[in-house]
Formats: sequence, C-alpha cells, structure tokens
Amino acid sequence: MYFSEEIIAEVQQRNDIVDVISQYVHLQKKGSNYTCCCPFHNEKTPSFSVNQARQMYKCFGCGEGGSVITFLQKYENYTFPEAIKYLAERAGIELPEDTNNAANKARDNRRARLLEVNKEAAKYYYYLLRSDKGKTGMDYLERRKLSEETRNKFGLGYASSYGNDLIAYLKSKGFKDDEIKDSGLAGFSEQKGLNSKFWNRVMFPIQDSNHRVIGFGGRVMGDGEPKYLNSPETEIFDKSRNLYGLNFARTARKNNMILCEGYMDVIALHQAGFNQAVASLGTAFTSGQANLLRRYTKDVLLAYDSDGAGTKAALRAIQILREAGLASKVINMKPYKDPDEFIKNLGAEEYQKRIDEAENSFLFQVRITESSFDMKDPDGRTRFYKEIAKLLSEFTDEIERENYLTAVANQYGVPRDSLREQVSKSAMQGEVKVIQRPQSAMGGAKAKAEDSKRKPQQLLLTWLAEEPQLYSKIKQYISAEDFTDELYQPVAKRFLEDLEKGNANPAVLISLLEDPEEQSKLSELFTTRLEEIHTKEERQKAFHDILVAVKTNSFEYYSSRAGTDINAINQVIAGKKALEELAKTHIFLD
Ligand code: GTP
Ligand code: MN
Repeated sequence: MYFSEEIIAEVQQRNDIVDVISQYVHLQKKGSNYTCCCPFHNEKTPSFSVNQARQMYKCFGCGEGGSVITFLQKYENYTFPEAIKYLAERAGIELPEDTNNAANKARDNRRARLLEVNKEAAKYYYYLLRSDKGKTGMDYLERRKLSEETRNKFGLGYASSYGNDLIAYLKSKGFKDDEIKDSGLAGFSEQKGLNSKFWNRVMFPIQDSNHRVIGFGGRVMGDGEPKYLNSPETEIFDKSRNLYGLNFARTARKNNMILCEGYMDVIALHQAGFNQAVASLGTAFTSGQANLLRRYTKDVLLAYDSDGAGTKAALRAIQILREAGLASKVINMKPYKDPDEFIKNLGAEEYQKRIDEAENSFLFQVRITESSFDMKDPDGRTRFYKEIAKLLSEFTDEIERENYLTAVANQYGVPRDSLREQVSKSAMQGEVKVIQRPQSAMGGAKAKAEDSKRKPQQLLLTWLAEEPQLYSKIKQYISAEDFTDELYQPVAKRFLEDLEKGNANPAVLISLLEDPEEQSKLSELFTTRLEEIHTKEERQKAFHDILVAVKTNSFEYYSSRAGTDINAINQVIAGKKALEELAKTHIFLD
C-alpha cells in the first residue's frame, strides 16, 4: 500500500461521503439515505443511494457502489493515490512523505514531470509569439481577429521555423531527453537526437479541466499539411477524455454547452461571449467526452461545420450524446461554414438567434436522412420511412416517441398507424443476439412450451416473496405486464405495488381471491420451493436466468401482438432495452 491504513481511515473520516458526492450530484434525503439519479448510468428514476451512517454509496440500478474514495476514482477518473491526495487536501490533512510504493510514486513523479515539460513549453511558445521571432504567428492571429485578451486567455503561442530552440530551452530548464521525448513535443533518432515536432505553427495549448497543459494543437501557417498537428497521446494526454475549452466552459454558468469541431471555433465563440463552447481534440467526439459534458449540462448545442463531413460528424455525435442521456440541438450556420466564420461575418447577436432557433436533433436526423433518398420514387419513400421508423424505435419513452412520430407523420403526410406499425416491426428486428433462453434454473429441458413460459414467472414471484429486498434491484427491469400468464398478472400487479410500498404479504394476496381454485393455485405459487441451490454464484446465475426468461417471454408475447397497439409497442421497446441491459448487468443478491 502506498498509504498507511491509518491515513486512509483518517482521510475517509474527515470527508463525509454525503458532502463529497453532493459536489457532483444533487442528493435528496429519503429516510435515512440520500438518493439521486445514478451518475454512472442513464436513468430517469433515482436508484443511486448514499448511506451516511455507513459512509457507503450504492446504485441499485447498475450495481456500482463503494466508499468516498471509490466514488472519486470512478467519477473523476482518479487513481487511488490521486483520490487520497484530493481528499487529504480537501480536509486539510497533511500526508506523510511515503517511500513504500516505489512504482506508484515513480508514476506520479513521471506524470508531474510531463506536466512540467508541457507547462514550460507553453511558456516558451507564449513568449515566442510575443517576440520578434513570432511575427508570422502574430500577424496570422490578428488577421483572424483574435484580441490580445483572447490570445492571452487561451495562452496561444508560436513554434518557430528555425532550429530546435524549444529543445534547447527545455534542456536549460533541466529536463532530460527522455522526458522531452515522452512529452510528445519532440521525436528522437539516433543520428539527430531530439527533433521538435512543431515547426512554424501557431500553438494552442490544450488544458485539462484544472487548467493544466496536457498537450498542444498547432496550426500551420499558410496552406501546408497537415493543417492541424496535435500532440500524440501520452501518459497525461488522453484525447477521448478531455475537451478543448472545458477548463473555462465548466464554470460558464449557462444552461447548455456548445460543442464544435475546431479550436478556432471555441476561441471565436468565447471571444463573442459564448464561454460555454468546447471542442474535441482533433479526433471524433467520444462517449468519454459525452460523460464529461454530462457532469455540467443536460443540453448540448452542436456547432459542427455545415459541409458534408461536418454533417456526418454531427449525426455521429448526436447518437453518442443520446446514448449518454444528453439532449442535443443543431445550430444552423448557413451560409457560413463554422462558428468562427459566422461570427466574423454576422456577429454575436445573430449567432444568439441561431442558438435560439437551433433544430431539434431528431428532426435534423430526419431531414438529413430524407436528403439521401429519392423521395419522388415510391421505393425511395418506403426506404426512407423504414429508416425513420428505426430511429423512432430507439426512443424508450413513449410520450417522446409518440410526439416525434406525430411530428414526422404530419410533416410527410403518412398515416400515424402505419408508421407506428413500422416502428414496432423495426423494434423487433435485431434483438436475437441478446436473447438466449436459459434453462438451468427451470428444471430440465423437457418442460412443455406453456410451462416454459409460466414457470419462470412463477419462480420470480416466489423468489420475490421470499426475498422482497431483491425487488429494488430489479424493479427497473420488470413490470406487472411482464407476467403474461392470466392468473399471475393481476397477482403480480398487486404484489409489485405492495413491494414498492415495502409491505408485501403473499398471504393477504391469496385471501383477496374469491375463487377457491384460484386460491389454491396461488398458494401453490407462493409455496413453490426454489430448487436447492447452494453457492452464491449459482443462486445469482439462477436469479438472473429467471429474470431473463420472464423478460424474453414478455418480449415475445408483446412482439406477436404489437401491430399498432401502443401498449404492446411500449412493452416491446422497453423489453428490448431491458434485455440488452440485463445482458451486461450483474445483479448481486446481497
Ligand atoms: P481554421 O482553418 O484554422 O479555421 O480551421 P478550423 O477551425 O475551421 O478547423 P477545421 O474545420 O479545418 O478542423 C477542425 C478541427 O479538426 C481542428 O481544430 C483540428 O482539431 C482538427 N483538424 C483539422 N485538420 C486536421 C489535420 O490535418 N490533422 C488532425 N489530426 N486534425 C485536424
Ligand atoms: Mn475555421
């Protein structure tokens, strides 16, 4: 261990888990716990719970759980020592110098050194831009209408076209060849030694959200190739988990973020007062970046180039944002190419109007999709509708889906019912991969077809009667409608309601039935013995299998009835989603 147990304990004692987690999410007190929507997976109803007495958190949706330290490792992407250091600082605890864990310490030192190299390089480029040798760069930035204030705020610099002056400077500051090479600022060859990566470029330091320089983008002067050259990924520079401009945008206090393509776009937007602008780092937008954005906002405005490549990238980004649970809109910059050109020509006020008029990203997808089909050709139209139905089937929220469906149906003059039918067809396609009919816990493969449907429903109800506390772990996957058996469905409905209220009592349920025959069937249900399963792993697997079997049956049941029946379509779409999630989720029984 890098830190002694006493230190770890002290750090935890002096940082209340509720206080720390509250810095990131909005916790609400519920009984003796605090809850909110889980920051580690997408959900609409809160299943994330923090227990102050035990100083633990747990998400009953995704299973994520642990201590205040685990939380920071997961949320901030901190290593264990980084989390300890952060918490120690937060509580004003002085950490003893430690010599035990040489490997950790060496790595931390290396990271610190690489940050130092980048910082010194940024200083050097910054100085050069403002010196005589930086005239080319300065003229360029002035032509691009960046004010002095903006140039300074973003720490812009210049890499000269003569000699390896940066390398000489870094060496004079005491950095070793290896450190310079590993920072990505120079290449190395046996014959020539270190050789600068950036020549004759305006330099954009890339900062992490704590304003530390972790890499650079350099723009060529004139028409050379590549137009932008970026630092390679290093131990401190992960391109998929940082965003250009986020160090400023995170405190912008706007109710949205603007995502654009280029560094110059971010800078032009900030200069015009849109200080909530960020961009990815010379690579396509990633889900890691979407998660980063989700810490600060729910609404993202896309300001991608209005050309074909930009549109394609925007479509991809919309998908990634949606999967991360973020809503997006698309800013129309026509007749200009990007935010930078738009603002230069029409100014900030006009840009604000474009923000206010930004197009809903679903309708944007529809419009773009339309343009790739020949709408005068009946076949083209058909394929277009199928494509749109596929997009619609990805909305699990019924109201949202119906609203979009209505909008599309009206706009294109197609009957809602036939579009809806197409949506359910499309929802039923492609589910095969996740569904396997598990047999293990259902006792033999000989079971009749009807039994193979009823049995899992019966077992699940029995299991819940025995261990009602499991309900909270599976309620996001299951509803009374999943119990398709005629006898079980009304029972399940009432039983799940009781479980929700925390006072489930099977005996009471039974006495509610009037027909003695039904009563006896039901008491049979609740007294079915679960097969003797001994190990925890086996029990866990059995429970998971039963759940999947119930959901699979339900999915098939409603698929065969979907047509235009909205309730059935909802069941199909929600069922597909639940099965996909179950395929990658572990449900822990304790
Ligand atoms: P300007 O001409 O300076 O206005 O460029 P721009 O801001 O309009 O950028 P462009 O739309 O050409 O590119 C957007 C972003 O893509 C840039 O900020 C870079 O991050 C990245 N990019 C552009 N060209 C290259 C390239 O040649 N290589 C790499 N790796 N990234 C590039
Ligand atoms: Mn541009």
